[in-house]
Amino acid sequence: MIIEKKDNFHLDEDVVPGALKPLMEEFQDFILLRNTYHAAIREVSTKLEILDDEFQVRYDYNPIHHMECRLKSPRSLFEKLERKGLEIEIASIYQITDMAGIRVICNYIDDVYAVASLLLKQDDIKLIRRRDYIKEPKESGYRSLHLVVEIPVFLSDKTEMVPVEIQLRTIAMDTWASLEHELKYKRSGGITPEMEEELKDCANAMAEVDRRMEEIHKAL
Ligand code: GTP
Ligand code: MG
Repeated sequence: MIIEKKDNFHLDEDVVPGALKPLMEEFQDFILLRNTYHAAIREVSTKLEILDDEFQVRYDYNPIHHMECRLKSPRSLFEKLERKGLEIEIASIYQITDMAGIRVICNYIDDVYAVASLLLKQDDIKLIRRRDYIKEPKESGYRSLHLVVEIPVFLSDKTEMVPVEIQLRTIAMDTWASLEHELKYKRSGGITPEMEEELKDCANAMAEVDRRMEEIHKAL
């Protein structure tokens, strides 16, 4: 699991000049909020690990190939607030549902739906949004099951319901999404419409491979 090093921030009243205090307080609120999102990621990823472990013990099979966790970086948060026309302030962060993100990479399409439904059955998980880009792939060819769930995080003075975005996909879908992202966003100049069509073809080919591999798996 990759989560960046934890921030520590303690507001030392004596060393902060008066004029800077509001800024420092805002900064401290931001660090505290990030810590809460970090806690939510740990809670949801632990639930997923527990489900995967149980499958291992019960059926000698792991539906989850691996997971990737991430807290949105301040840079990408600012970019998103700007893109959505939101003020750069703490209050705006509550309108962003992907501050905490977990990517769950499964072996087969069936595993994606099984893991999602077992997680959503849990009492303390509240479903906020479900988008099935496997049944209805995006125009680009992108496939994944997206869930936004809320989970309670118990803090010293309150309990916060914290949103976590979960992207569930197969290994093949993940391979395509990673490479497509790399090609599309990391190269200057962008890609041509012909390349976009080619990428879509690749996505369809990957989907066909997923379907065929799953048949072999089921036949065994
Ligand atoms: P955002 O405002 O960008 O979060 O869009 P949205 O709220 O409409 O969310 P959406 O359901 O489109 O999911 C956004 C996330 O899904 C992105 O941050 C990517 O991780 C992933 N995603 C969506 N479309 C694509 C795509 O075409 N290619 C790749 N590689 N990833 C995608
Ligand atoms: Mg999003």
